[in-house]
Amino acid sequence: MASVGDFRDLWDQIDPVGRGSDGGYHRFSWTGEDRALREWFAAQAEKRGMSVECDRNGNQYAWLGSPAEGPAVLTGSHFDSVPGGGAYDGPLGIVSGFLAVDELRAEGFEPARPVVVANFVEEEGGRFGVPCLGSRLATGAITPEKARSLTDRDGVSYAEAFADAGFDPGGMGADPELLKRFSCFVELHVEQGKYLVDTPHPVGVASAIWPHGRWRMDFTGEGNHAGTTRLADRRDPMLTFAFTVLAARKAASLEGALATVGRVEANPNATNAIADRVTGWLDVRAPSQDVLDKVLGRLTEQVEQRRLKDGTGAAIRSESLSAVVDFDEALRDRVAALLGGVPVLPTGAGHDAGVLSSSLPTAMLFVRNPTGVSHAPAEGASDDDCASGVRALANVLKELSR
Ligand code: GLV
Ligand code: MN
Ligand code: MN
Ligand code: MN
Repeated sequence: MASVGDFRDLWDQIDPVGRGSDGGYHRFSWTGEDRALREWFAAQAEKRGMSVECDRNGNQYAWLGSPAEGPAVLTGSHFDSVPGGGAYDGPLGIVSGFLAVDELRAEGFEPARPVVVANFVEEEGGRFGVPCLGSRLATGAITPEKARSLTDRDGVSYAEAFADAGFDPGGMGADPELLKRFSCFVELHVEQGKYLVDTPHPVGVASAIWPHGRWRMDFTGEGNHAGTTRLADRRDPMLTFAFTVLAARKAASLEGALATVGRVEANPNATNAIADRVTGWLDVRAPSQDVLDKVLGRLTEQVEQRRLKDGTGAAIRSESLSAVVDFDEALRDRVAALLGGVPVLPTGAGHDAGVLSSSLPTAMLFVRNPTGVSHAPAEGASDDDCASGVRALANVLKELSR
């Protein structure tokens, strides 16, 4: 059985990679940190006698068993983080996958079908803006043309970063043959809220993911002097932007949805200059697609009125959309029953398991998070709960690979 010590030993091998002085992680796809983690992934697979494969989109797979033995049970998650993110979001699923494999082997369990641990590329969209890029490409949820043209904050295109890592950008795209080799995907993930902390359960099962999306908002106006330009003469895009942040929050709260503007860039970004351009990124999540559309509809109307008043320009355009995911009921119930009636909870967070649900049955296990915080350094999970997560995942993999 996976012990706390086993978990800690493996976890400590990756814990320092990309950790900043404030404890936040900076692990972006195809950077040095990401490459170090990909190498670690391959080494861990080899250590366990698992063969390593990389698909045409750069997603990594460690195979216990051979594809000839039938469709595999897939587990795993991602290594990449949001800027300044927590330690567990993503890596916990990969480390737990390897530890669950260890547990199967320690018990002498012989799976009838292969068990595969995966590392999906750019789940957070932290570098190129579109979340779950690796799984979206594999399922065809994003075209290779669009993926290739995405750029990071320094203007590097996804095609360039992919090529720089030794992959062929011309080869990326939907991979139905690959997906046929998997019977289901079970992703273990740190809980990103405070549900399990009030229960005696270290592990829960996901029921659904709220529909969500990201929008880029460009506000334009006239750059000018902060001390000499009369208020009446200004065309200040910062005002329209500020209005939009508040209006998004209001529209979301009226509808029981969530709206966040977590990223903003102003030009020239000087204290004593009126900006000529402000770009903000909006994230909206809602209990249904109708509600999501309603929030965006109301916001767009209000911003249009406001920009006329401010004499500014405003353009809001979609960067990515994720439809509602209801996890496969049969798989979810089987997993929940196997784990002994653990809590089943919905989430507002996106995951590769959500994207892959269009192609195969998927399920998720959540490991209790004592702070309830995620996408920030305070994200947490106790070693005890992580070891419980590994044991739960091992049981699930055994059941599904029999
Ligand atoms: C990814 O974790 C997201 O839900 O934004
Ligand atoms: Mn994640
Ligand atoms: Mn995340
Ligand atoms: Mn996620």
